[in-house]
Amino acid sequence: MIEELHALETQAARALANSKNQTELAEWKSAYLGKQGAFTRLSKGLGALPADERPLAGQKFNQARQQLEQALALAEEQLKHAAQMDELEADQIDVTLPGRAPSIGRLHPSTIVIRNVVETFAEMGFQVWDSPEVETDEFNFGMLNFPPDHPARDMQDTFYVETPPGTPPVVLRTHTSPGQIHAMQRYAPEPVRVLLPGKCYRMEQVTARSEMMFHQFEFLMVGRNVTMADLKGTLDGMATRLFGAGTKVRLRPSYFPFTEPSAELDVSCFLCSGKGCRICKYSGWLEIGGCGMVHPNVLRNGGYDPEVFSGFAGGFGPERIGILKYGIDDIRWFFSGDERFLKQFG
Ligand code: DAH
Repeated sequence: MIEELHALETQAARALANSKNQTELAEWKSAYLGKQGAFTRLSKGLGALPADERPLAGQKFNQARQQLEQALALAEEQLKHAAQMDELEADQIDVTLPGRAPSIGRLHPSTIVIRNVVETFAEMGFQVWDSPEVETDEFNFGMLNFPPDHPARDMQDTFYVETPPGTPPVVLRTHTSPGQIHAMQRYAPEPVRVLLPGKCYRMEQVTARSEMMFHQFEFLMVGRNVTMADLKGTLDGMATRLFGAGTKVRLRPSYFPFTEPSAELDVSCFLCSGKGCRICKYSGWLEIGGCGMVHPNVLRNGGYDPEVFSGFAGGFGPERIGILKYGIDDIRWFFSGDERFLKQFG
């Protein structure tokens, strides 16, 4: 019996050495150590041994079984290790390959102009202010002296936000001018000098010249004895800082409901120094935006007494400036997300 046991041990050890994968190991386990396995079967013969031989034989059986179990555990461990090595092998990377250059973000042309303008106005003592992009109709129009149903409202086609019936109409701001009211209401009766940059929205046919979304700047100064000369001086400061020394400013009479008097703001063409070129259509001047003296009603809505306070305001757009400065032929490029366009700036 002990010989049979030895023979079985040798056979089992050899078979284990030949088991190459998990399935074969499992098969081996059931063939030798399982309930119906060779060892179990052989051990059944133990009972038939004479009583004095049984303890020694039993011991040998147990030892043999233990050894085989250990050998199995070792084989399983080795298999697992081999699998891990295979995986590592497969995961190998070639560290000598040249890397891919990370694509680095850059400044959008609108951002470049916005930063430039913010700096310019900050130098002249204006603080930068944020105001909401979603406004009530009252802030966007009413308090800026657009009477209800006044044709001036048609100057700007508006996106209305859906609101519950019976609540005041809400719009995507069509200009940054409602920020004037917010700033005045915050600071009145103290004097105020703010610059309000931000996005505006108009329900317009998208063309090379107009987009549904664009940026604007609003500048506002309110104080005692603020005059049109202060407006002109501020605009001169802005123009020379933004477009270079020697740039001139011209105001042409115009109409906006929130300013009186109102003016269109032109700067001398910084491309041809006013001599006349294709960009300024040979006029020597470029139209930049609108401005004027804050209307008494608007001052009142902001919380100032128009008998005591006066102010000036204006608005213009960074995309328009970008178009002129960089010779961009179509405003749609700005919001196209087209890398070929964007990578030319910043
Ligand atoms: N809000 C005007 C627009 O979007 C621009 C403007 C004109 C702003 C005159 C002003 C101003 O503050 O005084 O067309």
